[in-house]
Parts: sequence; C-alpha cells; structure tokens
Amino acid sequence: MNNELPLSGATTANPGASKAAISFHYDLGNEFFRLFLDRECCYSCAMYDKESDSQEAAQQRKLEYHIEQARADGTARVLDIGCGWGALQKRLVKEHQVKVAVGLTLSENQAEWIRSMGVSGVEVRVESWSDHVPAASYDSIISVGAFEHFARPSNRPVRVRGYRDFFERCYGWLNPGGWMSLQSIGLGAADRGTEGQFVAENIFPESDLPRLGEIADASEGIFEIVSVRNDRADYKRTNHEFRDRLRRNWDGAVSLVGEETVRRFDKYFRVSAVDRPAMASRRTQLSYPPSVRARHAGGRGDAWWQLASIEEAAASCIARDR
Ligand SMILES: C[S@@+](CC[C@H](N)C(=O)[O-])C[C@H]1O[C@@H](n2cnc3c(N)ncnc32)[C@H](O)[C@@H]1O
Repeated sequence: MNNELPLSGATTANPGASKAAISFHYDLGNEFFRLFLDRECCYSCAMYDKESDSQEAAQQRKLEYHIEQARADGTARVLDIGCGWGALQKRLVKEHQVKVAVGLTLSENQAEWIRSMGVSGVEVRVESWSDHVPAASYDSIISVGAFEHFARPSNRPVRVRGYRDFFERCYGWLNPGGWMSLQSIGLGAADRGTEGQFVAENIFPESDLPRLGEIADASEGIFEIVSVRNDRADYKRTNHEFRDRLRRNWDGAVSLVGEETVRRFDKYFRVSAVDRPAMASRRTQLSYPPSVRARHAGGRGDAWWQLASIEEAAASCIARDR
C-alpha cells in the first residue's frame, strides 16, 4: 500500500480515506451487508451485557449508550459522523425526540438506504467531515466506528494533525455546552502487525487506526476527556457474530459479491476476532464522550475519565464556586 497518497485538494493535513476507498468497502451492495449485520445494519463494535445478549440487543445498547453520553435526548440537532445505514439517526429521531439527525457518509449505497427509510427528521449527506458546512450548529455530535477512516496511513504527527483538525471542526459545530461521543478501534502497539496489514491492504484501504495517546494529543485544549473505556471483549464477540452470520449465508453472499470478496471478509472477521494475547493487547475499543457535569458516565467499567469542552469545564467550575 502506498503510504504517501497525494493529498491534493485536501483541506486538512490528513483527511483520511477518499470517497473511492470508502466506496471500495461499503458500496458492495446493501444486500450483502444485510447478510451479516443486525436488523438495523449496525457495523461497529456492539455492547454486550450478558452471555445471552443477541447482536440486535447489544447494538441497540451501544446506540443508547452514545445517545446518553452525548446528551442527545430531546435535542434539536444531532450530527452523526460516519452514519452507516442510519440506525443511530433513526433511533435519535424515533425514540429520543431529536428534531433533526444529520448523518455524514462517503457511501452512496448507505445514503440511498437512509433516504429510502423516509424517516422524517433524518437527513443524510454524502460528504466527508472535512468538507462539512452545517446549516446550523449541533447540540450533540456522535461518531461510531468511523474515526478509523479519518487518517490515511502515515506517521504519528501527520495522524495527530488530521485528528486535531477533526476535533477543532467538531468543537466549532457544537453549541456551547454541547457534548460529543466517539467510538473507535485503537491500536495499542506501534505497528499494526500482519493481521492489521492484511486489513489495511485488502479491507480498508487508505485507513489507519489511532492510538489512544494520539486522540488525547489531538483533542487537548479543544475537548476535555471525560471518560475512556476499552471493550476489547465486545469487539471480539462482535466480529464472531459477523463471521458466524456470514458463514451461515455463504452461498447467498457469494452470489451477490463473488467468492473472493466473501473470503476476504471472512478472513477480516477472523483476524479481528482472535484471542491471542499479542492480538488482544493490540485491540482497543475506545469511547470518547466529552462531558462535564456528570462525574461518572455510569454503565459498566470504572476506567472513565471526565471530559468536556474547555469552556464548559470553566463554566462548571464557576457555577460550583458560587
Ligand atoms: C464502519 S462504518 C460505521 C457506521 C455506523 N456508525 C455504525 O456504527 O454502524 C464507517 C462509516 O464511516 C463513514 N466515513 C468514512 N470516512 C468518512 C468521512 N471522512 N466523513 C464522513 N463519513 C465517513 C463511512 O461512509 C461509513 O458510513
């Protein structure tokens, strides 16, 4: 893979995967993805609570979690960056009385799918975050499983510059006091290893995974980190579920996209779900909800930091001192 892809015309230091690279993965046909995703087509790490949880339940729990972290319930405008097939937007509008849920995607197929749902209040744009100019500011921003595409393969300083640009823009689009929740796979090791290299070359071209420290560096002085969680076991289980479903629907998948593609996806889910210690220590599920007032984000896990926009943090200190 060429590590020095031209960034001509780019408005950021490292704008991430191009539309063509995203299309290579996500525009294989919606029917293909439906064969291994849950009913709502969530394509990111789910949140399991118990052994008996279905993929459907675990995906909805994850959506609820981000909605809560981003304080999106009952708000006027929410931005979903990397909206996939619109599951989060639909939930925001239908279950949480959000007036407008704007989704950004670089996949035409996903956008068509969302438009065909015809849900009032759900808007979709085939547009990168790096080109987004909102019609009005947002109360909350949520981004789940898309940050992995926001930097092309490069070195740490270049990745951090691109991520910093992303955080600066998000900050500028949020109303004062607005919150953001971010979920991404992360790398704990300096390099991605053989399995990661396979994924980078054959599954997600032009994409690189962040390291936790890079996200912290990139958001420093823009957002205050409230909490971080690592759900590696959930990531493993999600990949198992994707793989099981794909294998159960193997023939149907082959007839839609061909055997070579199905084999590639099968391998992708397999290498992403392994439980070898070396791999395990390299997989991290991060969730980044900036907040300020709640000292604890609740839910499972005690490894949460508090995080909020700088102005919010200051405002809250002033309010407490009164
Ligand atoms: C793995 S999918 C996650 C979809 C959804 N959030 C979910 O959890 O099911 C990644 C999404 O990020 C979108 N994406 C990738 N790069 C993007 C960019 N620069 N701007 C906006 N969306 C982008 C893709 O089009 C896709 O919808």
